[in-house]
Amino acid sequence: MDTVYITTPIYYANGSPHLGHFLTTTLADSLARYYRNKVGEENVFFTTGLDEHGTNVEQAALKAGFDNTKDYVDLRFKEWKKMFEESNISYNYFVRTTNPKHKTFVKKFILQLFKNKDIYKSYYSGKYCNGCEKFLTKSDLDDRGLCPLHRKDQVVEVKEENYFFKLSKYAPQVAELINQNKIKIFPENKRKELLSRLDQGVEDISISRPKEKISWGIEFPNDPNQVIYVWVEALLNYISSLSINKKEYFWRGHTVHLLGKDISWFHNVIWPSLLLSAKKNLFKESFVHGFLNVGGQKMSKSLGNVITPDHLLKRYGLDGSRYLILSSLPYQNDSDVTMDYFDNKYMSILSNGLGNLVSRVTKLCEITKKTYNLNLTSSLQNRLDLQKIDSLVKEYRLQDVCFLFEDQISFLDKELQKAKPWENLDDSYDFLQDILLHLLFLINTFNFIFPKTYERILLHFNLLSKQKTKNYVGHLTNLFPRLS
Ligand code: MSP
Repeated sequence: MDTVYITTPIYYANGSPHLGHFLTTTLADSLARYYRNKVGEENVFFTTGLDEHGTNVEQAALKAGFDNTKDYVDLRFKEWKKMFEESNISYNYFVRTTNPKHKTFVKKFILQLFKNKDIYKSYYSGKYCNGCEKFLTKSDLDDRGLCPLHRKDQVVEVKEENYFFKLSKYAPQVAELINQNKIKIFPENKRKELLSRLDQGVEDISISRPKEKISWGIEFPNDPNQVIYVWVEALLNYISSLSINKKEYFWRGHTVHLLGKDISWFHNVIWPSLLLSAKKNLFKESFVHGFLNVGGQKMSKSLGNVITPDHLLKRYGLDGSRYLILSSLPYQNDSDVTMDYFDNKYMSILSNGLGNLVSRVTKLCEITKKTYNLNLTSSLQNRLDLQKIDSLVKEYRLQDVCFLFEDQISFLDKELQKAKPWENLDDSYDFLQDILLHLLFLINTFNFIFPKTYERILLHFNLLSKQKTKNYVGHLTNLFPRLS
């Protein structure tokens, strides 16, 4: 693994960030931090950002009273960027599809597909969901013939002349690539779902919309009456971003797309087909997560039951929120959370767990007035199965990484209870030294999940300057304050 490129979906600029977006972005951030530790800062490129075109964005701008949709997306951009920065998201590039460089890149790409004779003009007749920005096939509809994710009024009947892409020509090849794990899809149940849908046969897809119906988009090359279908140009962000940043070489390394289950077909079938048609390299892996539901209900902008990341950040702080989200990661299936669940988890694992352990141990060390070895390179490796963590991360099982962490916390807590060093501090030096190093080693190992806590530890123990390895230890309290 030489270079690693990690992407999140680019989110529709028609609303504020919700917990689902926060989940994928936090996951991407943790992976980026993990790989930066492993292969070096300069060998990791992590992008996230906004999908700024399409009907739903245009409609949201109108509803918000904006005459100019660009002014609206500029405002949204500021809001999302601020949220990601305040959440300590270490992206390398924030994507905006209204960037003129992206538009130029997309047009060139489409011309290439034309040249390869994979585009033709025809008529589309059927349903279109403005919420999904999707031409709905039978398999997309629920029993009532409606979109399962969006309100009834967001689905419209359309009959229009569009440009089509020959998806049917490439789908068998994509099925083969997925089958042979040349495109690796995680987890296994999502891979199987794709293969079985591919097995049912694939039709060509519409890749443009008439300008008279939607003007907010990128004009089709050589046809001023058509606009490029928003999904096609959005997918292209994954390579236009590299081109804009002159980082094209990342596309030849380890490339990873993270996404939710509702957009798996776009990423894992349509996207590789477009790449095959343009004769570009394919991405290597994609991780398809399930949905995070709240109190047994789907969370979505149009259903109006959205928990904001802001709410989480205010209550649990940066690392607290990251931990709660990652430990609830919907892996094979959806997962369900409530604020009560988050409160309990935060208190037991972080406040009474890690925070309390660090506080008790450093307090005892302080009382002894002795110096302690703080050298993390000492042989603690055997305490934690680092290879296990590595293989879990490689399979995107961050919730299991969190469980490993929880086992460690409970182990250390028991050790402390058993040894009761406070009863005989004079004879407890070795024990305190050992447990202190173990705690530091733990925070160091999990620093991709707790980046702020790690920073605090480095500062508190003066570990930034490498000379001193033995030092006095001061009480470190309130790493994860109790909830009010
Ligand atoms: N703009 C497209 C993506 C284009 S990528 C080339 C889009 N945007 S979105 O804002 O609607 O959704 C982005 C992501 O949020 C998707 O991965 C989707 O699965 C995820 N989530 C939306 N609701 C979610 C939950 N309740 N839980 C977890 N993730 C969910 O689609």
